[in-house]
Amino acid sequence: MGQVFVLDHPLIADKLTRMRRKETCSKDFRILLKEISLLMGYEVTRSMKTKMVEVETPLMVTSKPMLEEDLITIVPILRAGVGLVDGLLELLPIARVGHIGMYRDEETKQPVEYYCKMPADVAESLVIVVDPMLATGGSAIDAVNALKSRGCANIRMMNLVAAPEGIRAFQEAHPDVDIYVAAVDDGLDQNAYILPGLGDAGDRIFGTK
Ligand code: PRP
Ligand code: URA
Repeated sequence: MGQVFVLDHPLIADKLTRMRRKETCSKDFRILLKEISLLMGYEVTRSMKTKMVEVETPLMVTSKPMLEEDLITIVPILRAGVGLVDGLLELLPIARVGHIGMYRDEETKQPVEYYCKMPADVAESLVIVVDPMLATGGSAIDAVNALKSRGCANIRMMNLVAAPEGIRAFQEAHPDVDIYVAAVDDGLDQNAYILPGLGDAGDRIFGTK
């Protein structure tokens, strides 16, 4: 079974609480989301392997660690996942970005895939899937299905807020994928929105409501 890492760092908690406030405007919401993505990025990448390389300092030659994996792909689930990309790219400037477009059908709450563009060698890559919300888990499950069907085997999931129901569904579907979240909330309402949550992440990032 994949692990669930709840990144309950005080800086992350403080920024997330600010994002939850209904009066937080899109500009501030985006800034906070980017700041959190930088903080979460440290933990999501913590177990990345390093290899020893020779380096010549101004004083001597020595052997020091550098990242072993140089194929890294960040995959935002459109739209809201885009808000987490810039922060991760600052930490991982060599990473490529693959996009997967999903929206939830308002009636059925089932995800509908409408776009997918991945780097050609994504199968050999460490893939970090990002989306602020893991509600029913349907979008994340289908996004990882799409990546596995392209041969990806080294996948991590990063969400800001998750519902326990979504975590359970995701772990059942993808027991090999670890999940990194800033908070696990109480549950879902009748429209499958996370409670207390932060509302519709895409609308709040892009100001579409
Ligand atoms: C939101 C969110 C996730 C999904 C989570 O996207 O960004 O992708 O819902 O819900 P689930 O776990 O129940 O699948 P939404 O469908 O609202 O699309 P948007 O980002 O384009 O607004
Ligand atoms: N999508 C969102 O943006 N927010 C939720 O609470 C659930 C799904």
